[in-house]
Amino acid sequence: MSIKVAVVCGGSSVEHEVSVITAMQAAAALDRSKYTPVALYITKDNRFFTGENLLDINSYKDIPTALKNAMEVIPVRHEGKSVLMSFPPKTFGKGTFIPVDAVLTAVHGTNVEDGTLQGLLEYWGVPYSGCNVCASAAGMDKWVMKALFRSQGIPCLPGLLINRTDFYADMEAVIDRVEREIGYPIVVKPSNLGSSVGISKARNREALEESLVNALSFAQNAICERAVEHLREINCAVLGDSDSARPSVCEEPLNATDILTYKDKYQSGGGSKGAKGAKMGGAKSAGGSKGASGMASLARQVPADIPAELEAKVKELAVKAFQAIGASGVARVDFLLDGESGDLYVNEINTVPGSLSYYLWEAGGMSFTQLVDELIQLALKKQRDKEKLSFSFDTNLLATASLPTGGAKGAKA
Ligand SMILES: Nc1ncnc2c1ncn2[C@@H]1O[C@H](COP(=O)(O)OP(=O)(O)O)[C@@H](O)[C@H]1O
Ligand SMILES: [Mg+2]
Repeated sequence: MSIKVAVVCGGSSVEHEVSVITAMQAAAALDRSKYTPVALYITKDNRFFTGENLLDINSYKDIPTALKNAMEVIPVRHEGKSVLMSFPPKTFGKGTFIPVDAVLTAVHGTNVEDGTLQGLLEYWGVPYSGCNVCASAAGMDKWVMKALFRSQGIPCLPGLLINRTDFYADMEAVIDRVEREIGYPIVVKPSNLGSSVGISKARNREALEESLVNALSFAQNAICERAVEHLREINCAVLGDSDSARPSVCEEPLNATDILTYKDKYQSGGGSKGAKGAKMGGAKSAGGSKGASGMASLARQVPADIPAELEAKVKELAVKAFQAIGASGVARVDFLLDGESGDLYVNEINTVPGSLSYYLWEAGGMSFTQLVDELIQLALKKQRDKEKLSFSFDTNLLATASLPTGGAKGAKA
């Protein structure tokens, strides 16, 4: 019997549109002899919709019309199953119930990739691909991620965490401290976004202030770290779970002359200007089809042209980083390399990488169809493992206990 896979995308994230692209690519890659895709689109204001039309990327050019032709639903438990129920609910249980056997998470960014959606999926009781709540949250928070990496001896850049309230309470003091402890050039980034949103590089005090104001307009906290010079970026995906994880081939995004911008990543071909407030110069955007191919459109070298020794190191650290946050499914670990000194740092882990990094697995001989198949199988395995754990005792303590009569005395007494 075909397994119904809800491919979930969208949500209130700056990476909403990119997620739709990832989802459409993944849905198209599903092996139809085993799986039936069910679109599950989350609007920017957190409403859920399903419908055949939402499996077609063209529908998303006009979202209001697409939603009119789709059905609003809510995920509920019904008769022991995870189902999507038409919303608003109809009287006498006459609504539509669409059973879902597994969820493929094709979401990027805050409110969806950061454990929020994963918590909802836990409650829904459905097997879902990718990281659990804790790993998702750790993978989104660049500061928590750094702490976990450091605890495992994984090389990453030291940084300073700047809180918005502290910054606005005494800007001069905060800037003094960043200058003293980090030193120019400095990269400033919101602590929990993605796709380069709010990230900029500062080479002097004036730019640093501008960068902090910019980053702190997107998040409560910003991270300041030293900018790696002679920058080369190397990425490596990892697939598996806590029992076994393996690295993909490595890639080198080619327009990494400076900060890779949102445009570089997803709209290569359109003259790149970079994030608001940034003085970045030189970020040239390379060719590639516009927009619709997501991360796959970025100009890149696959496999990365790096010495075998460095490649082995990257792969080893990628798997270590994956394990350090307790990841599962497919994640992409991004590295910063100083092309002159050879210093290598883990920059971040993306727990739901753009286009699920399928092109890195393809380069190693694994098709996108095999990749999504493995992701769903890992999700089903995770659910089986979870079901082996006990979350409650079958006895009802309240049925046998002598219950207190009135009064609000401590229950534990
Ligand atoms: N310390 C750094 N030195 C130099 N460039 C950096 C540094 N940190 C980030 N960048 C540049 O900014 C881009 C985005 O930063 P990153 O930390 O990966 O955030 P995001 O989650 O938005 O992708 C990187 O791909 C890289 O080009
Ligand atoms: Mg990044």
